Amino acid sequence: MKQNIILSFLCITGAFTTIFLSSCETGETSTNQAMVIPYPAELTLSKDSLSLSSVSLSLAPQFEDLKPLFEEIFEGLPTDLPGSAPIQVTRDTALAAEAYHLLVTSKGIEIRSAHQRGAIYALQTLRQLRETQNSRDKIPCLTIKDQPRFSYRGMHLDVGRHFFPVSFVKQYIDLLSMYRFNTFHWHLTEDQGWRIEIKKYPKLQSTAAYRKETVIGHNNTTPRQFDGKPYGGYYTQEEIKEVVKYAMARGITIIPEIELPGHAQAAIAAYPELGCTGKAAEVATYWGVFDEVYCPSEKTFTFLQDVLDEVMALFPSPYIHIGGDECPKTRWKESKFCQDLIKKVNLKDEHELQSYFIQRIEKYLNSKGRYIIGWDEILEGGLAPNATVMSWRGVEGGIAAARQKHDVIMTPTDYCYFDYYQSRHANEPLAIGGFLPLSKVYGYEPVPEGLEEEAHRYILGTQGNVWTEYMDTPEKVLYMVLPRMQALAEVAWSDPKVKNYDHFLQRLNTHFEWWKRMGLPFADKTADLNISIHSGSGNGVLVAVKTNGSTLPIQCVLGGKTFTYDKPIVIQKSDTLLASVQRGGMSAGKRDTLVFRMHQAAGKKINLGHMPAKKYSADGPGSLINGVSGANTNYTEEWIGFEGKNLEAEIDLGAITYVDEVSMRFYHSPEQWIYLPGQVSLYFSQDGKNYNEMPAFTVRPTQSKVLDFLIPTAKTKTRYIRLVANNAGLIPAGQPGEGNPAWLFVDEIFVN
Ligand code: ACM
Repeated sequence: MKQNIILSFLCITGAFTTIFLSSCETGETSTNQAMVIPYPAELTLSKDSLSLSSVSLSLAPQFEDLKPLFEEIFEGLPTDLPGSAPIQVTRDTALAAEAYHLLVTSKGIEIRSAHQRGAIYALQTLRQLRETQNSRDKIPCLTIKDQPRFSYRGMHLDVGRHFFPVSFVKQYIDLLSMYRFNTFHWHLTEDQGWRIEIKKYPKLQSTAAYRKETVIGHNNTTPRQFDGKPYGGYYTQEEIKEVVKYAMARGITIIPEIELPGHAQAAIAAYPELGCTGKAAEVATYWGVFDEVYCPSEKTFTFLQDVLDEVMALFPSPYIHIGGDECPKTRWKESKFCQDLIKKVNLKDEHELQSYFIQRIEKYLNSKGRYIIGWDEILEGGLAPNATVMSWRGVEGGIAAARQKHDVIMTPTDYCYFDYYQSRHANEPLAIGGFLPLSKVYGYEPVPEGLEEEAHRYILGTQGNVWTEYMDTPEKVLYMVLPRMQALAEVAWSDPKVKNYDHFLQRLNTHFEWWKRMGLPFADKTADLNISIHSGSGNGVLVAVKTNGSTLPIQCVLGGKTFTYDKPIVIQKSDTLLASVQRGGMSAGKRDTLVFRMHQAAGKKINLGHMPAKKYSADGPGSLINGVSGANTNYTEEWIGFEGKNLEAEIDLGAITYVDEVSMRFYHSPEQWIYLPGQVSLYFSQDGKNYNEMPAFTVRPTQSKVLDFLIPTAKTKTRYIRLVANNAGLIPAGQPGEGNPAWLFVDEIFVN
């Protein structure tokens, strides 16, 4: 443990030096460390600590409202006993808006800030200091002078796809406050459900808040299957007021999102006159982008203004998010009303009609003293004059808006979509797709490359988005956001000069322990293993195991022997390797089990005529002859995928050998554009020059996902094996992905 600390101290910036030197000097590794996330701008640790057996609070009159938060943070501690540690919170108007100073000495605690938010952050930092020590009764003495890098630090939650109770929304807000976010973006309306009570429109409650059933499994599965169970719910205005107040007391502004003109099918199901056809739609029962969007009619504008009036009465936020994303123009193109309107108000096309729609809403909200935020599609057809843009489809929207001197919040999918997978592990719970590991979130830089220096000031900050198609319980949401939101908290708050991923992981480990005490589900991917199997060079099969950042030991079991991993393992015979990261005698991350079925080609040389697609190339061509078979249920990890190309493999067994059979595995999943090969040809050669062709084998269709394809070769002598599996070609009409090149996925080629 100590060695690790010294090693990491050598490679990190000066800002941390003090911390590690003092912890090393005092010999204390567990108590005197400041495991704060996000890391403060300036932190100086001293070797003393403050005993917290009893505390007494003295609050400046401006901060009186913080008493309940204080009591929550120091819950369980007696107060105001003789000799209590004094905690003094003073107002210091010289400090910046969200800044705070925190001084902990062996005599007591002083907090200074100009505004309530700064004082809240200081209290939350104290909470972290207390909860991440071995003993909650002692905190390290230190000085913190802190302020955020970005003024907008947000987390989003989609309650339309799945509905979450008020108790969970409050828990989510608690987490935001603990990690010094300042904004909760509450995505309240969707095609699959309208979740906010609007008194003037009761059918939003009785109809739009409920769907008749929900798709099972992944939306892309064909044919879709449904659970047959009605689903829904909404927040009453009383509940919303309670949540807004709760958030305010924790320094969190709530920005409500009322989606328009798209993602409006639930509202149109309740009030068909809001759509372009006037026909009834149903509240959507599966995921995606739907054609039923608001018609830009006066009826719709009256409805939306009425809705927004009630929304503004509930939410004091200066910003209202109006969506603006993913609005198909199908109905507008078909509608005489829309086409006439385009002519009447002199617009070029439906994109300008969308801009007209957004600008009317903006004008209305501006007239009430509020500002709009919209997803980056609001750039199309011309940006509304005072709009803030949320850049999600990449960074280009953010760059374009900032160049037009509009404020921008960066939420690009590649770094900020916490509905993406956080691990490539085969048994990861179902997610929408994508891959966004913790390290990638941590490495995110919100100011986009290529944006001119003078436009940087328009980048207000960043936000993590949590779309809940595949998160149907609070536990699943927590699993998906913890700890990626902590990584983003540090991106949004901390000066890049004090950021360091290894140090972040060390701090995070102490938060994991705290979360466990709180009973919070989280994804400790740092303790997951990355296993790579090196094969295909003729030098055998070699297994290298790495953690995903954790410095905890890796335990392996092979051939009945248990050992701590210290170097790559050579696999020589069929066996099972178990590997796991150990924390306190237990597996911390997921255990990995690799079953090796060795055969004559395992670890020998292989060359491919075409290289596989980069993202489906496993550990390279050698993965085809490493003794390990890919999963039967998905084509990640061991499988190798070719887009529109054949498999052409040449294997050198190293010496002339008798071969009795050659077999291989193909993945079969037409709904995912993956097809079996049409035929497989096999050639044998003893000298690498003259090849004998075995008869070509036709591959018969199968119902199962994986086809084991075996070619008997009746004890034939060979050294070289050439194998060609023909790609199925273009995807036939009527099938998902029709007209696109088919994928061919292949795995272990066994030679026996
Ligand atoms: C979005 O993800 N459709 C903003």
